[in-house]
Formats: sequence, structure tokens, C-alpha cells
Amino acid sequence: MAAQEMEMIARALVAPNKGILAADESTGTIEKRFKNINVPNTEENRRDYRELLFTTPDISKFISGVILYDETIRQKNKEGTPLVEILKQQGLIPGIKVDKGAKPLAGFPGEKITEGLDGLRARFEEYYKLGARFSKWRAVITIGNGIPTLACIKANAHALACYAALSQEAGIVPIVEPEVLMDGSHTLQRCAEVTELTIRIVFEELFMQRVVFEQMLLKPNMVTAGKDSPEQASVSDVAKATIRVLRHSVPAAVPGIVFLSGGQNDILATEHLNAMNQLGPHPWQLSFSYGRALQDAPLHAWLGNPSNRATAQQAFLHRAECNGMARSGKYSE
Ligand code: 13P
Repeated sequence: MAAQEMEMIARALVAPNKGILAADESTGTIEKRFKNINVPNTEENRRDYRELLFTTPDISKFISGVILYDETIRQKNKEGTPLVEILKQQGLIPGIKVDKGAKPLAGFPGEKITEGLDGLRARFEEYYKLGARFSKWRAVITIGNGIPTLACIKANAHALACYAALSQEAGIVPIVEPEVLMDGSHTLQRCAEVTELTIRIVFEELFMQRVVFEQMLLKPNMVTAGKDSPEQASVSDVAKATIRVLRHSVPAAVPGIVFLSGGQNDILATEHLNAMNQLGPHPWQLSFSYGRALQDAPLHAWLGNPSNRATAQQAFLHRAECNGMARSGKYSE
């Protein structure tokens, strides 16, 4: 029963024309986003901003589910309705970020390991009761001089697989996110090599730890040149390189791949997804699970001012629709 439900949820999350909103910024990360628009990082502002996103009219045409942060899954709006209920009323599936962030990996300068496995079984039980039907764990891999090391990739893959197995045990669909960061001046080719190695090792660990591929989603980076590389690749080169890497490394049993935006500007993130879907058909659904690429526009339209609510919702709906179109390669500005 739980197995069937998880497969259904995984498929619903990547239903045609739809993708995921990542609204799971930790309190520290959303502080950075609010600072850009001079909004104080209070619990009330975080709630009001996220409620604005969740109540956007028609948003469920293009958004299937929302990844929440621990604070948000417990929050209620001013009238006392839990935000999770609001999501459900809108036809959106509630998800939860369960990792506790990437910390320095002992003995490996410049590399990180994601924490959060201790006590995770009990946390999953509670999150299921609170309404979460999918979850996310993010590992970060950094490209630099002599890094990533195999040790770092393996440690992170192991943790991702432990997490995914616990998530499925709780009846919650895991989104496995190994993010190769865009930071640095590396070439597209280097990003392709590191991304392929990382995803291959992640799937080997998922297999070893008996994670069911049909009941999970993968959330990878796209294959791009480093942010500081003088040689930025074209949209078409990014699309081709990303598809090539994914075809080499992701089993066809996985229902969907939902990209992170990772600091790409919002229009480019849409163009890349569109170009990849134009190269289809693919063995898996190719969709989005964007944070910044969906939220930059509404954040800057909102500016913390309640009277900008409708404009901010419009801006969010527009980006969601653009990405919804990119799901079938039909995006145009
Ligand atoms: P970005 O799209 O801003 O990279 O956020 C997605 C996410 O959930 C990263 O963990």
C-alpha cells in the first residue's frame, strides 16, 4: 500500500507541465534573500511570504508540490489554518527538507558532508503525521584544485542512500539531491566528469541500501561551466552535456529528474530545461525543483509590502508557467 502510494506520489510530482517549488530555505538562507529586498527576517515575514506563494491563484496548474522547511510545516496563517492545509486545499503536495546542512568534512579541506541522519527515523514519523509525502536531502560536491575526492563523494552518497532508505521506510518519497556546485572557474567538461561520477556512485549506494528506484526522484545540477569560467557554454551545449551524463548514470526505473537552479538566473534555468526536453523523448520525466529561479521574481515584486501581494503572485505564476511550458519544450518568453 505504502509502496503504491509512493510510486503514485513520485509520478504526480513530475506530472506533465508541472514541477516542484523549493521553498525550504533554512532561516539563515532566507535571511540572505530577505536582506536583498530589505525585509527583516522575522518568523511572521517568513510565514507571510510563503503563504503568499502557496495561495497564488491557479498555481497548481504548474506546481505539483512544495518543499518546506521544518518551521514552515508547523506554521499557521493569521486565521489559524496550518500552511500544510492551505497547500492541500490548493492541490499541492507538501514535502519536507530533512537534512541539517553541509558541514566541513574532517580531513578534507574545502569539502563538505551533509549531516542529519541521527534521529531521522523518528523525525520522518512526525513529518508523515504533519502531512509530508515527499522529502529532500542535499549533498554538496565542490569542484576545485584536487577536489572533489572520491572519499567525499562516497561519504555523501552513503548518507544520501541511508536517508532515502529511511524516507521510503516511512512511506515518504525521497528526493535525492547530489549538487555539484557551480562555484569556480572549471570547464563544462570538468563539470560533466564530476557530475557523472557522482551520480553513478550515488546510484550504486542507493542500490546497495535497497532504495526502490520507482519510488524516488533525483535532483541533480545541470552540467554547466563554473560560474567564474570565461568560457560559458551555450544553452544547447548545456542541454546536450546534461542529457549525456544523465543517460549514462540514471536508471530508467526512476520516474523523474527534477533539476535545481543552483544560482543560474531564472530565464536561463527555464531555457536549459526547455532545450533538454526538446532533445526528448527521455526515459524519465525531466522537470524542475527550483528555489531561486522561481522565487527571485516574486521576492522582488513583493518587497515585504502587503499591497504588492497580487503583483508578486503574478510574477510567481508567470515563472511557474514558463517552466511548465519548458516541460514539453514549448517555452517562449
Ligand atoms: P535552487 O534552485 O535555488 O538551487 O534551490 C533548489 C534547492 O532546493 C537546493 O537545495
